[in-house]
Amino acid sequence: MKLTFRRATDDDKPAMLALAASVDPDDYLRWVIDGYMKERPGGFYLTEDESGRLLALASITFIRPGQAFLRTMRVHPEVQGQGVGTEFTRFQVDQAKRLGARVVRLLTAEDNRAVHRLAGEKLGFTLRGRWATWWDSLSLTLPPDGQATGVRVAVGDDAPALDGLFRESQEVCSCPGVFAGEEESSEMYAFEPAGEPLAGLIEAGRVLVHGVAAPDGLAVVTPSTGYDGRSTLLVTYLWGGPEARLGFLRHLAGEVRSGRATAIELSLPADQAEALEALGRAWHPEDQRPWYGRLYEKTFGR
Ligand SMILES: CC(C)(COP(=O)(O)OP(=O)(O)OC[C@H]1O[C@@H](n2cnc3c(N)ncnc32)[C@H](O)[C@@H]1OP(=O)(O)O)[C@@H](O)C(=O)NCCC(=O)NCCS
Repeated sequence: MKLTFRRATDDDKPAMLALAASVDPDDYLRWVIDGYMKERPGGFYLTEDESGRLLALASITFIRPGQAFLRTMRVHPEVQGQGVGTEFTRFQVDQAKRLGARVVRLLTAEDNRAVHRLAGEKLGFTLRGRWATWWDSLSLTLPPDGQATGVRVAVGDDAPALDGLFRESQEVCSCPGVFAGEEESSEMYAFEPAGEPLAGLIEAGRVLVHGVAAPDGLAVVTPSTGYDGRSTLLVTYLWGGPEARLGFLRHLAGEVRSGRATAIELSLPADQAEALEALGRAWHPEDQRPWYGRLYEKTFGR
């Protein structure tokens, strides 16, 4: 089968949505397609066969300049397992490189064996870390209002202690430092350069600290807007002992109760999510487990 690749246009949208629905009738593509189509650099790309039949779609976004993220790949069920996904990913990597990427990343579910095989084994991506995500995570059944949480917004004077805590967390963390932006949750897979990683975030009021006498826990929380328009608190780092973890959860639940946010989204290095699960508390209304995924990356050097 000879494959061709090209950028998608608005005219392709009905066929793209039909393909996505054939893979999963509840596919979220319909919510994001317009926004993803408009992205420059990046956007949506398609794979077709000789007759022009649509076989696959996928998008590229640039999380930071030079840092590309491949997402929403769907191969038509009738041609899955025939190498289309592998060739399309190869094209996407080349395309991202042409658009200025020096690193390309993708995230896939822990049980998506086809992607582990094509990225991790066939196309030379390396495993950068494990991730976990909960959407709408925090139950309002969390501890009642009025309970001291020991949590406050960090200020400049906290920076040295927090940097120490952050470095400590990195020694045991299965993922390097992660700093989400404001609107797009895939920004959580962007990595800032080394240096004083927390300074800018503290200045922006996005770091929470736990500990009355001395900081013993930190969380990175970004107010953002979900694609459904809800005000969401996006938590991308949550480090500390059990008391600190519980303090952060109470604090976040309080933010929802007080109406400052309507939803909490946790997207954390997997070990931090596992530590939250280890609290063993009924802190999610449906007692759902997080979604665990693996982040792969391919770098091109400078
Ligand atoms: C995942 C997906 C994109 C892969 O595309 P594809 O065209 O089927 O993949 P390929 O044919 O290139 O296969 C890649 C490798 O994975 C293997 N593979 C495919 N499906 C597999 C499965 N279910 N279990 C284990 N290995 C599998 C293939 O055998 C191949 O390895 P090989 O060359 O050694 O034989 C496609 O199956 C798909 O659209 N799935 C639904 C949506 C999805 O999961 N998207 C990815 C989100 S990150």
